[in-house]
Formats: sequence, C-alpha cells, structure tokens
Amino acid sequence: MSKILVTGAAGFIGSQLSYALWKKGEEVVLLDNFSYGKEDNLIFPEVDFRETILKMDIKDEEAINELFEKEKFDVVYHIAAITPLPDCQYKPKLAIDTNVGGTVNILEAARKVGVKKVIFSSTSAVYENSNEFPSKEDKVPTPSLIYSGGKFAAENFCRSYAEVYGMNIVVLRFANVYGPHIDCLRKTPPVAGYLIKQYFNNESPVLHSTGDQERDFVYVDDLIRLAILVQQGEGFDVVNVSTNETHSINSMSRIIAKIMGKEDIKEEYAPVAHFWEKYPELYSGAYKISEKILSNEVNKYTLLDNSHAKERYGWVPEVDFEEGLRRTVEFSVPLLEKAAKEN
Ligand SMILES: NC(=O)c1ccc[n+]([C@@H]2O[C@H](COP(=O)([O-])OP(=O)(O)OC[C@H]3O[C@@H](n4cnc5c(N)ncnc54)[C@H](O)[C@@H]3O)[C@@H](O)[C@H]2O)c1
Repeated sequence: MSKILVTGAAGFIGSQLSYALWKKGEEVVLLDNFSYGKEDNLIFPEVDFRETILKMDIKDEEAINELFEKEKFDVVYHIAAITPLPDCQYKPKLAIDTNVGGTVNILEAARKVGVKKVIFSSTSAVYENSNEFPSKEDKVPTPSLIYSGGKFAAENFCRSYAEVYGMNIVVLRFANVYGPHIDCLRKTPPVAGYLIKQYFNNESPVLHSTGDQERDFVYVDDLIRLAILVQQGEGFDVVNVSTNETHSINSMSRIIAKIMGKEDIKEEYAPVAHFWEKYPELYSGAYKISEKILSNEVNKYTLLDNSHAKERYGWVPEVDFEEGLRRTVEFSVPLLEKAAKEN
C-alpha cells in the first residue's frame, strides 16, 4: 500500500482519481481549497471523503511543507489548478500564483522529503498554437493564453526538478476530459457540462462559430487508468492522454440531446467575438482581448498523438464516446435536479 496525496481532490478529475486509488487499497489523502471543488464530488457508494479531505491551499508554502514533512507521501498527484480559461485570463496573478507557484510549492516540498513520484496534470491546451496533428509530446509551440502558458511553465518546472534533483516526475497532458462529476454549473462549464445543463433547462445551447470545430475527448475513467499506470517507471516523462480521435461540438451536442430526449431543441450559433462576454474585463481597458486569439480558441482543432501512452504504459482508451456521454448525463441530471430544488 502506498501513501498518496491528491491535490484538487474535490474537483471533477481529482475526486474520481481519489476514489479509484482508494478502491485499489491505497492510503489516499485528499486536499482542496474548495475554490471550485464541491462536497458532492466527495460522496461515493462505499466511501464519503467529506470528513477527511484537508481544506488547504497549494499557494500556502508553509502549510504544504508541514503537511509533506508530517505525512511522508510515496506518490503525489498534483491535480489542483484554476481550470476555466477565462478565469485565468481575467485574474492572471491568481492563476499564475496557483497554477505555477502552487506547482513549485508541491515540487519543492516533494523534493525535501523524498516523494518517490510526482504526477502533474497538464493539458492539451499547451498545443493551442500547434499546426501539427496529431500533436506529439516533444513539439509545443509557445502557448499564448494565461492558462496554457502557465501550465507549460509548470511543466517546465517539473522538468527542471527532474533534471536538477533526479526526481521521478510525469507530466500528463489531458485532452478534453468528460465523464461523471463534470461541472455543469460553474460560470463557464466545460462543453459537455454546458450542453447537459442547457438541455436540462430546455434551453438552446449557444455554440460559438459553426460548431463544426473538432476536439479530442477522453473519458475520465480511461484517463484514471493511465494516471495509475504511470506510477511505474523512473525519470521524467511527458504523456498525452487522448483517444487520438476527434468529434465536433455539434456532434457532441446532438448525441447529448438524443440521450436526454431533447432532440427538438436546436443549437444556436454566436460569433466568436462573444465567446468570453461573461468576462467584460477582458473586453475593456486600453488593450482588449484580440479577436484573433478568441477565434483561435473557439475554432481550435485538437488531436493528440497517444502512441507514447500505448507503447510505454500499454494503455488503450476503452470507453466509446456515446457510452461515455450517456454515463455523464446519467450522473449529471440528478445533480442538476438537486441544484434546481435548492434554488
Ligand atoms: N477537465 C478537463 O477537460 C481538463 C483538460 C486538461 C487538463 N485538465 C487539468 O486537470 C486538472 C483537474 O481538472 P478538473 O477538470 O478536475 O478541474 P476542477 O476545477 O474540477 O478541479 C480543480 C480543483 O482544484 C482546486 N483548487 C484550485 N485552486 C486550488 C488551490 N489554490 N489549492 C487547493 N486546491 C485548489 C479546485 O477547488 C478544484 O476542486 C487541472 O489541473 C486541469 O488543468 C483538465
């Protein structure tokens, strides 16, 4: 049995990773500051993590050092981050302090006490300026946005700690993740969460651009299997976590509408310039967000090469897109019903 820390454990991915590790019989310590995480994410059929999760902030260097000193973790999954892209863009200092500074706090604490493996959750967003598909781990044109630039910087500090101190560190670059526990209710939910929320409320989803833009989507259980497999092996590694398949936003929307019996509700389309209009700060000031950048973000094509994950770790994604969406809807609808009753 290993002693494992999961940061960001009240979030979408961290909560399910914690549960999967717990089911494997590991001693799991969960940590989150609940800035985005939810108590509901911590309730599982055989275990309720609400009592034991540590409410802590990865920006608090002293508290993180004390925790690592006390607990002597074998493995650390560093999942915590500010994840909505526009939130990072309009609060850049907080985003960098959290996503970069918080990662360095984890790396430094892990170095001091000898954590055997650190696994860091990065993102396919680092490939936002890539024109080569499927994108391979060793080719990353410098990203432009605060979220992706911050994640790429944090990846580079992971590399630095592996090179300078000989630590064992794996960077996982997740494609667009979907599955149960996806957040349907935050200000800017991930696309699957947004679509489910709109159909649940009998409202048309508003898709920016044509909706034909294609993305690489990976189901959360597939991701977790790989995240556990990468505990094996030494040194530094960067691994794309992807199906190496794309689906358009329109196609995802139609599948969700069908699963929810809402096929009569049709998508509406909006210009890319409106993409982050819930964040007026980005459209004001002497320098405003560039329409070209918004257009890149909305129309972005993502396709990640997953041959490294297959060859080194023997991993293959298993969950079919429609089946994954069905499970996501089945999990999300009761939560939306509960939220509707509470409001
Ligand atoms: N969901 C995706 O499609 C996707 C894709 C690529 C990469 N990722 C990465 O995977 C990780 C998890 O993503 P998610 O979708 O579960 O996001 P999420 O927002 O649901 O979870 C992130 C968690 O981190 C916590 N957190 C934020 N700041 C913190 C701080 N200062 N201290 C402690 N906890 C803090 C939040 O409260 C939240 O519970 C992130 O690092 C994200 O960048 C996610």
